[in-house]
This record gives sequence, C-alpha cells and structure tokens, in this order.
Amino acid sequence: MAAHRFATTLTTAVSLIAPFLGLATACSASEGAAAAAAPTLDAASGGVKALPAGDTVGAPGVGDSDFPQDGNGGYDVDHYGLKLSYDPASKRLEGSAAIRARAVQDLTAFDLDLHGLTVSRVTVNGAVAQFGRREDELTVTAPGRIKSGARFDVTVDYAGVPDPVRNYAGLGTYGFIATTDGSFVTCEPNGAKTWFPSNDHPSDKATYDFKITVPEGLTAIANGEMDAQPKTSDGRTTFAWREKHPMATYLATMTTGKFEVRTGTSDLGIPVYAAVDPAFHGSLDNLYTASAKITDYWTTMFGPYPFSSTGGVVDNYSAGYALENQTKPIYGGFTPDTGIIAHELAHQWFGDSVSITRWKDLWLNEGFATYAEWLWSEHRGGQTADALFRSYYANNLDPIWNVPPGRAQRTDLFNGSVYTRGAMTLHAVRREIGDATFFALLKKWTAAHRYGNATTEEFVALAEHMSGKKLDGLFDAWLYQPRRPAPVT
Ligand code: ARG
Ligand code: ZN
Repeated sequence: MAAHRFATTLTTAVSLIAPFLGLATACSASEGAAAAAAPTLDAASGGVKALPAGDTVGAPGVGDSDFPQDGNGGYDVDHYGLKLSYDPASKRLEGSAAIRARAVQDLTAFDLDLHGLTVSRVTVNGAVAQFGRREDELTVTAPGRIKSGARFDVTVDYAGVPDPVRNYAGLGTYGFIATTDGSFVTCEPNGAKTWFPSNDHPSDKATYDFKITVPEGLTAIANGEMDAQPKTSDGRTTFAWREKHPMATYLATMTTGKFEVRTGTSDLGIPVYAAVDPAFHGSLDNLYTASAKITDYWTTMFGPYPFSSTGGVVDNYSAGYALENQTKPIYGGFTPDTGIIAHELAHQWFGDSVSITRWKDLWLNEGFATYAEWLWSEHRGGQTADALFRSYYANNLDPIWNVPPGRAQRTDLFNGSVYTRGAMTLHAVRREIGDATFFALLKKWTAAHRYGNATTEEFVALAEHMSGKKLDGLFDAWLYQPRRPAPVT
C-alpha cells in the first residue's frame, strides 16, 4: 500500500488535504479488479434505491451504496428552521429544529439522522409524537397517517455536547467540532447529524434559517445572509441567518467564536462576507478581496453566481482542509491562498448549486473544483491547464492510475484520483470537443441543474449532446478503468 505522494506542481487545495489522502489512496489489486469488472456508466450501480411499495414506514437510509444509513426514505425536506444556542465553556448545544417536509409515500413512521444528543420532545403537525433512537437514527411515529404528497411539520427539541464523526479512516474528524472559543462546523460527507436532526444526504436539498445564540462578544456565522441585526440581551447575542437557496445538509454551518468581519460588495455587485479568527488577523483583507474577485471571475466562466452572497471564513482550528460551505467556504487553521479560494468558490457552482445525487459521483465536485484551480492558474499567468494536465500525465507511477476517480469509495472518498484524475478527465473532454464547446458545456451544466442534483451519466449525456460526439469510451477510460488512459493530443 504505497502512500500517495503529490507532484510538487499540485496546488494548495489538494496538498492541504493530503494528510487524509495519504491514509486512504492506496488501492489494492482486488479493488482495482472489482472496479474493472463493474458495469460502466450504469445508472443502477451505486444509485439510490427506491423504497418497497406499499410500506408506510420510511426507510432508514436513502440507499446510497457508500453510506446506506444516510438520509431517509419516505419524505423530502423543504426547509429547516434551526434555533441553536451554544455555550463554548460547557460545550453544550441546545437546539430546536422545525422541519417542513413532503411525504413521498404514505407514512406512519419515519426517521431523521441524528448522532448523539438527547431528544426531549418531538411533534408532528403540532401533535406530540413518540420517538426512539437507534444508532444514528431518530425514529418518529406519526400521530396519524401522513398521506403521500402531503406536507408535514416536524419539530425536534434536543440538547447535549455534540460528538463529531471520526468513524471513517481517511475522512478525518468532521461535523460539529468544539474549538477553544466556539465551534468549527464542517460536515462533508455526513456530519450534519452531529448538530441537527436531518435527512443527511445531498440528494435531499432544502432551504434554511438559523437563529444562533452565543455569549456576548462572540460571532455566529451560518449560510446565506443575515436576516436582521444581531440582538443582545442578558449577555447573549442571537444571530439570524437565512439561506434561501436549496442546500445540501453537509454544506450547512454554524461556525462560532471570536471573529473579525469585513463586508462589502464585489465589482459585479455580489455581497461579500469575510471573517477570520483574530489569530488570522493578517488574512482578512486578502480573504475578502480574493473571494470577491474570484467569485466575479467564475461568473464569466461558469455562468451567473447561484447564491445571494459570497465570502469565506478562516477559523483557528487546524482541520487541515477547507470546505465549500454554501456562500461561506471555511478554511481550517491556515491562511488560504488564491488557489484554494478559487477551488472552494468554484464549488459554489459545482457541488453546492449542482449537487451530487450519490457519493460515488464526487468527482463532479472535486474534479471540477480542481480543474477550476488550473483555470485560475492559467488566468493569473501561471501554469496553463494544459501544462498541468501534461505534468500529471507524465508521471506514470502516480497512484491515481490505479484508482478510477468515477466511483469514489466511502473509505477513500477524497483521494487524489477524485481530485486530480477527475480534473484530468475534464481536460481530456476539453481536448476532444474543443474549447468553445467545452466552456459552453460548463455553463450549460450549471444552468441545467442549478439548485438541483445530477449524476455522472447526465454529464456524459450532455457532453455528447453538445459536441455531437460519442464520448463513452473517453469517459470510461478516464473515470472507470484502473490504468492510465491513452495519451491526449
Ligand atoms: N470538499 C472539501 C474540498 O474542497 C474537502 C473536504 C474534506 N472532508 C473531510 N472530512 N476530510 O476539498
Ligand atoms: Zn473540493
């Protein structure tokens, strides 16, 4: 099991998460063989299974082949209204979640994902409901039958000391993480359940509002924009945030602590909110300026900015990675350079607005965001995307050739292949269909699936449609085969 070593040309975004990748990138011969034997470009492989018909108990997971217990069947969440209060001294979180959902089958019982924390009360459509806990599921018995298609409201009151997720080798610690002055909340892939009951899978996106109370003097940062001025009484301040565009659960955040904040608007008029822990005082202006400038630049490359504000947060917690939290990418314990800011902001289009339907397709996020770093490098007069592609291609010993990026694995989700070979796949497509069609394809992709979910098969189909070429051989070689594809001219 050779540890993955990155070429020195590799940009910051990936090298920062290299500690995780090193644990997880090696690929055994049997994994490679299994990947080769699996049918290619098959929507059924790794897809999301339908529920058994006629059952009125929602399934405990959406059927993601990497994380079978994640998410839940039987309903679709429209909105999370989260009232949260956090005390950094005791590390205790008190929450009240108001969830508006729509049943997609008749329901007498259903689950929410919730990890740890003590639930005191659940209501369904205003009536007190019975509930139970089983592993990371909160099981709710509906007071009456909820008809398929009906909207229903669930409230959950809960409290406790959040326990972040550390179960999966290679993913590090994620979810709600206590810091010395507050909380660092990064949830990819399934850490939302550590701080609110949810349908914790990216296939169910919803809008959010947050009311977060912290001791006076601290700041609470969530997604979207502030609804109102913070209100202070009795030594505690409440911050109201609203994300009015659909968001995957893993992109929700309640980052709290001491922060220095700078706000304004970009040249193109997009509101910007940048915040840094005082330990990163010197990073604030560059974070603000670069985030504004890069968001504007990406609108010219990827199409209109999908959300109502942009920005970034640097917290003094050494996560060793960044996360593309919707409207508020977070950088864990380092000063971000423009390469990683370009990466996290590209995710606002690729991952946040256009979201994956199943974790296997993660290259649709990471390959695209890594390719965006290459485009940014080229735009700034650094190495061109083509030169970067060729330098990676030249290293025929790189473990990315053994690990097909098109089927990310739970234990190896963020491996170097998903990032680098994912980006190379896009470059191979670009060379095959030409620059004009390729860049039109990126814009069409973000427009066609704006605020929604998509799959690799849909991307392949769109690329074929727009180019008029058959591209299944190219995608198969780049995404699904455990060997280096033929050279790209
Ligand atoms: N999506 C993040 C990025 O932009 C990586 C998140 C890593 N998460 C983790 N649990 N290790 O690269
Ligand atoms: Zn990324």
